[in-house]
Amino acid sequence: MKDNVILTGFMGTGKTSLGKLLATRLGRPFVDIDKKIEDEAHMSIPKIFEKFGEAHFRELEKAAVKELCEKRGLVIATGGGTIKDEENLLLLKNSGVMICLTTEPEEIFNRTARRGERPVLDGGGNERLETIKKLLAERKKFYDRADYQVDTTNWSPIQIIDDICKHLRQFS
Ligand code: S3P
Repeated sequence: MKDNVILTGFMGTGKTSLGKLLATRLGRPFVDIDKKIEDEAHMSIPKIFEKFGEAHFRELEKAAVKELCEKRGLVIATGGGTIKDEENLLLLKNSGVMICLTTEPEEIFNRTARRGERPVLDGGGNERLETIKKLLAERKKFYDRADYQVDTTNWSPIQIIDDICKHLRQFS
């Protein structure tokens, strides 16, 4: 299968770590959109948010999506908010098979506990779990448009990768 495989989903669902494993399993190059943005900006994502604001980050994200969607054969991990932009969502979907990783909010809360790394959650203060639940509810309609969803809350990485590969075989 030459199409891209796109891993999307909320922060803390495992897009980057599972994307690397999946790419190794499939023998394909792996591209993480957040990392691509950081490498090209020579700056971390929290720093980009702090210096230039979220709107600028979203522009960089959009440019990265456009560039990557002209390619095929990649495993691409999106950022958690990449597909809330309709154009990004359509470009990514049309470039391959989109898999959405899901995780229970409490587990997302645990996995994203370190402050300073996820600027869209850091405004949440003590209400961080509520912020996660609110954003998940807002974004559900976008995540639901993926071709397939896998719940990563309780499964091991191997189980998740096996499950994704089983479903990818249906598209090949
Ligand atoms: C964001 C998620 C982050 C990163 C940025 C914005 C979001 O990616 O793109 O901080 O809006 O959900 P991860 O999901 O990889 O943490």
